[in-house]
Amino acid sequence: MNLAVVGLQWGDEGKGKIIDWLSSDSDFIVRFQGGNNAGHTVVINGKKFVFHLIPSGILRKGKVCVIGNGVVIDPEILIEEVTRLRKEGIEITPKNLKISLLSHLIMPYHRNLDALREKRRTNKIGTTKRGIGPCYVDKFSRCGIRVIDLIDPDVFKDKLADNLREKNPLFKDVFGAEPFSFEEILSQYSEFARILRPFAADTVETLRRAQEDKKSILFEGAQGTFLDIDFGTYPFVTSSNTISSAAGAGSGFPFLKIKKVLGVAKAYTTRVGQGPFPTEVEGKYSNFLREKGGEFGATTGRPRRCGWLDLVLLKRAAQLNGVTSLALTKIDVLDELSDIEICTSYKYKSKTAKNFPLSIKEWSSIKPVYRKFKGWNKPTTSIRSYAKLPTRTKDYINIIEDYLKLKVEFISVGSLREAVIKR
Ligand code: IMP
Repeated sequence: MNLAVVGLQWGDEGKGKIIDWLSSDSDFIVRFQGGNNAGHTVVINGKKFVFHLIPSGILRKGKVCVIGNGVVIDPEILIEEVTRLRKEGIEITPKNLKISLLSHLIMPYHRNLDALREKRRTNKIGTTKRGIGPCYVDKFSRCGIRVIDLIDPDVFKDKLADNLREKNPLFKDVFGAEPFSFEEILSQYSEFARILRPFAADTVETLRRAQEDKKSILFEGAQGTFLDIDFGTYPFVTSSNTISSAAGAGSGFPFLKIKKVLGVAKAYTTRVGQGPFPTEVEGKYSNFLREKGGEFGATTGRPRRCGWLDLVLLKRAAQLNGVTSLALTKIDVLDELSDIEICTSYKYKSKTAKNFPLSIKEWSSIKPVYRKFKGWNKPTTSIRSYAKLPTRTKDYINIIEDYLKLKVEFISVGSLREAVIKR
């Protein structure tokens, strides 16, 4: 069966772990948006594998990993990732890794522009400075450079020259920064082209054939619903659509053929970067969640902001994504807490908010309303069956299921690969 796995919060929901689990039953694993702003961590036999661009399904033999047209690729990072994973004993060949010819490339000027714009902004977004936003801007303003252009030297030269003609004055005159050298980028990217050419493919055709052969395809979302460029807490969002419907446009696969959407939510909430976060807490609970949950960015190492589970947010996310079932991760992080809070509604101007907040003004004035919950105070990390979970843990899960009218299908109880309960 074809399914999409998406994050229901602000990213870092632990999707990597769930995707790794599910990829054992999938033949193809596809990234469809974002770039190396993402970071998935998978722990196998105590060894940590970090992924930024390549789907974590690459860890399993016989799977085909696809980087779809909706992804923005920093070729330097992709090559580094391939080299690092190969050193760690993972086999990566043009047979098990396919990159869409239509994916857009992150160029050195995108990374610089990302950092310079961020520095100038009064209301900083807290981007990962990986050049994601500027690369998508170029894609939509139709001056982007794609993988298909990279491997055609004449086209590449032409497009690079055009871009530098426009961008170098911007760097020099607006930002007082160094311009980029055509020759340097050309020589660096020609080498990238040589290395990446064998992996470049018409991945629309790859996936069409997969479908014809009745293979099962897993679409791996990056970031999370509230970082979506349209439906997130704009402008504190990323520059792509992160919701499940982006899986179609970001891969060229007919979206009606994706039958299942698994929404991944952490048992509490975190956010990295700036922007609204109604259930954010400070002080002892925040520190506890950050330390116990290892809440530091896999990409930038930044400490994540931490807070309580927000069911209002999850409901909206479930609706936006058409979630068919849920995965709840890091439940074990709450094991030692006697008091837990769960946000069940928002107050706006001291009344229960009727509508989901859309403007930053509304976001900053709503107040979360909490349901107090007594914790289970028992370790759950070694539990592998739902029946054996403490009753209070099951109560916590029931509250989520009742509120969202969705079943929690997977519960992750630790960082180990096998620390998952499947119901
Ligand atoms: P950008 O995607 O680098 O432009 O960053 C925009 C916002 O999205 C910032 O708040 C980042 O911290 C956040 N962000 C981007 N990718 C991820 C991710 O994979 N996990 C969590 N936050 C992310």
